Amino acid sequence: MDFTGQHIVVTGASTGIGRATVVRLVAGDAKVSAIARRADLLQELCAELGDRAKWTAADVGDQAALTAALDSAVAQHGPIDGLFLNAGTGGTFAPLEAYSDANFEQLMAVNMLAPFWAVRHVLGAMKARGRGAILITGSLASERGMALNVAYVMSKHAVLGLARAAALEAAPHGVRVNCLIPGFIATPLLDGVPPEQLPALAANVPQGRVGTSEETAEVAAFLLSDSASHVTGQSFAVDGGVLGTLAVR
Ligand SMILES: NC(=O)c1ccc[n+]([C@@H]2O[C@H](COP(=O)([O-])OP(=O)(O)OC[C@H]3O[C@@H](n4cnc5c(N)ncnc54)[C@H](OP(=O)(O)O)[C@@H]3O)[C@@H](O)[C@H]2O)c1
Repeated sequence: MDFTGQHIVVTGASTGIGRATVVRLVAGDAKVSAIARRADLLQELCAELGDRAKWTAADVGDQAALTAALDSAVAQHGPIDGLFLNAGTGGTFAPLEAYSDANFEQLMAVNMLAPFWAVRHVLGAMKARGRGAILITGSLASERGMALNVAYVMSKHAVLGLARAAALEAAPHGVRVNCLIPGFIATPLLDGVPPEQLPALAANVPQGRVGTSEETAEVAAFLLSDSASHVTGQSFAVDGGVLGTLAVR
């Protein structure tokens, strides 16, 4: 995949899938703008990657901070060709009856509202240029239920809906929108899963193992690239076969 001359923005770029995707995109000669809250990690990453990688620290759950970061990316690297809306939080696991408003609202702002705000902010410019690729990170919880984290499941169903709805509005204008569905991927996010549930995760994967950030980044890069020029409105799983099984225990 060749991203020469293209500017791609990645949110949630400080660790895990987002970080690996920044590395993959720069390897494909993209100019990348990396966004997350932890400036130290972003600075370290961009220093490793050189001038093609720039960063802005922002909390994507704060609409003004998010849109300012997107504007700053444009100021640094030019118009946005690709937007990977990947920042996400697992929130706090709790039974539904005990799920707090604070947890619900914080998770929804980061996982659901931020992708909506970002798509709304960039779509006009992409449509005007007649090109653009947007990729939103969903989850197995975009396609299936999961106990003990109702807001996470709701937010990830919502972003699949966002991708499908935006894809239809954007398609006539040369802009694609897709949803990436990571399965169980070894990143810091899995630290939020209750430890007693961890052995069951790998056992539920037909390949018998969790995935890596790099394996996920490879597919993210494909969906952001011109190689996926006829792919839009889709959810694409990187899950070792989980969604293909009849039942997951
Ligand atoms: N790992 C999995 O098994 C799995 C499965 C399904 C879906 N996913 C999804 O994949 C995406 C990436 O997660 P990951 O697995 O790579 O985990 P991760 O390593 O914990 O990455 C999460 C990223 O999101 C950023 N982030 C979180 N809250 C933010 C906020 N308020 N503002 C800005 N950035 C924020 C974090 O950076 P800072 O903390 O520096 O802000 C970090 O860069 C998430 O959307 C997650 O829901 C992961």
